Amino acid sequence: MSETLTLRRPDDWHLHLRDKDMLKAVLPETARHFARAIIMPNLVPPVVRGDDALAYRDRILAALPDGMKFTPLMTLYLTEDTDPDDLAEAHTSGLIKAVKLYPAGATTNSASGVRDFDKVRPVLERMAEIGCPLCVHGEVVDADIDIFDREAVFIDRVLDPIRQAVPKLRVVMEHITTQNAADYVRSNQTGLAATITTHHLVINRNDILVGGIKPHYYCLPVAKREEHRLALRAAATSGDARFFLGTDSAPHTDPNKLSACGCAGCFTATNTMSILAEVFENEGALDKLEGFASLHGPAFYNLPANDESITLTKGGPFRYPEKLETPEGPVTIFDPGMDLHWRVA
Ligand code: DOR
Ligand code: ZN
Repeated sequence: MSETLTLRRPDDWHLHLRDKDMLKAVLPETARHFARAIIMPNLVPPVVRGDDALAYRDRILAALPDGMKFTPLMTLYLTEDTDPDDLAEAHTSGLIKAVKLYPAGATTNSASGVRDFDKVRPVLERMAEIGCPLCVHGEVVDADIDIFDREAVFIDRVLDPIRQAVPKLRVVMEHITTQNAADYVRSNQTGLAATITTHHLVINRNDILVGGIKPHYYCLPVAKREEHRLALRAAATSGDARFFLGTDSAPHTDPNKLSACGCAGCFTATNTMSILAEVFENEGALDKLEGFASLHGPAFYNLPANDESITLTKGGPFRYPEKLETPEGPVTIFDPGMDLHWRVA
């Protein structure tokens, strides 16, 4: 008898699905294991209004292969011109589950993001009133701030002032990469949570840079030093309900990654559950995986946990394909650099 692990079906609280051919190619990789996902709005042009989210949701559902079940949880992209009434209507009707804040210039397709945080204050106040969470890409973009410090500085200069000014706003710090972010989440009692990606539990900055540059490990926020990776592993495996899975699985084709100016993003949709089981087992915390992947996220978003379950079996080591072929070109699947002994049955 092989060892098995049965969990409520997991959800992904931060996912990039893109559009058109890429959407078609990557969606089954997520829908195979995950029931729902918070869908990032950083398309070109971005998903700004309720109508944009509705149309995008329809395109996602149309791209879902027959026989697969998946619920996209839509978001709007916050701009300095966001219309609070349109946002409120999209949230009240149930169309969107959150709004995403990108500081302008922080990452892929963030040019329409926010430059002056005071300008979006009225929208944030409205969101607090109606209980719409803000998902935050927490990095400052100031040229004088070192890229490895951008998250910690964002907490002090931007996030904490926003939380003081709009204390009822519910906030998800997305894809945290530092001990500072994990500590900040723990120091706040209500209305604040954080997602953690699969890849930030596995790689540190040496993995990107030592022995030759590894473009497939480059993402934003960039992986930090080892002590921060260990802090993230401790947070994810602690059972603390303020931490939950958001893979930030972000497909870019190989030519766009393997370039003199390569794109940021790790594609982890395909093997995330195998990697997480390995990480949690190595931390002696397999019993905490269900909370992280399947229970804490729905609790924060006031949604029921999924009724269905998935079962992982132990064996292997299991190999995943190196690449997902798409009509736009190959997308390299994240290589965790370790043997994987669990897979979804
Ligand atoms: O690595 C990343 N890729 N970080 C982001 O914030 C955006 C994402 C993307 O859209 O490719
Ligand atoms: Zn992202």
